[in-house]
Amino acid sequence: MSEVIDGKKFADNLCAELKVEVAQLIANENLLPCIAVVLVGDDPASHVYVKNKVLRCTQLGIKSIEHRLPMETEQAELLALIETLNQDDSVHGILVQLPVPKQIDDKAVLAAISPTKDVDGFHIQNVGALAVGEPIMVPCTPLGSLMLLQDTLGDLSGKHAVIVGRSNIVGKPMALLLLQHHCTVTVVHSRTKDIEEHCRRADILVAAVGIPKFIKADWVKSGAVVIDVGINRIQEEGKSRLVGDVDFETVAPRAAAITPVPGGVGPMTIACLMYNTVAAAKLQRGL
Ligand code: GUN
Repeated sequence: MSEVIDGKKFADNLCAELKVEVAQLIANENLLPCIAVVLVGDDPASHVYVKNKVLRCTQLGIKSIEHRLPMETEQAELLALIETLNQDDSVHGILVQLPVPKQIDDKAVLAAISPTKDVDGFHIQNVGALAVGEPIMVPCTPLGSLMLLQDTLGDLSGKHAVIVGRSNIVGKPMALLLLQHHCTVTVVHSRTKDIEEHCRRADILVAAVGIPKFIKADWVKSGAVVIDVGINRIQEEGKSRLVGDVDFETVAPRAAAITPVPGGVGPMTIACLMYNTVAAAKLQRGL
């Protein structure tokens, strides 16, 4: 029987530790970690993500400030808000929920966030730091996935990791992070020939393509550890439900361990955002 990796439980434990640390920072250093979350437009999924992020902050005693801007917001207006938040010493983390509406260039937005407040780890300076093996702020979903992998496997050294997807948010930073942990890393994507063949060689398979149930049972080596990053809403038998990028029902029996959707990587992403926010607050205070 394969292990279903309980991301919710791991995230709850991490958050319990962070809650203690936040209370200590407030009591001993007069430091209240604070994140500003910026949401532009009315993408329903983004609203749910932001609501969950703010809820976690409240549970941990982290201050959160929400900025909700209308769909038609101009780029200059958003950049001005980011600059105000950059200058505000009481704000330690800045997160602009992606995607942003099409009149706004997301690259310009990410570049505008001060790298020390970049709790998403998307600023080029943080991407570069990760690439040279000196990570400062690591993107939340890859960081959460790494924590689950280390908890499941211990030392990752020498494992062959295959990452399906090459996004800037997950695939690429995940590859860099696993390289730093001495994995042999293969990244496959929409132009890769024989994706299945590559997947079959994986000791660690990370699926981050955004296609429901993309990874099939016969693509997975017996005993592999499978991390499913996908969160896809599908209609099945007249009902709406969330599924991952992995066909869980058929893949799970082959895998040594697998993350479910929901309850796997999703809660870890938010827990790691809290982790990065506390880290940013300490960094800015020189702690
Ligand atoms: N949209 C989807 N995932 C993310 C994320 O990790 N951070 C931000 N800011 N937006 C997202």
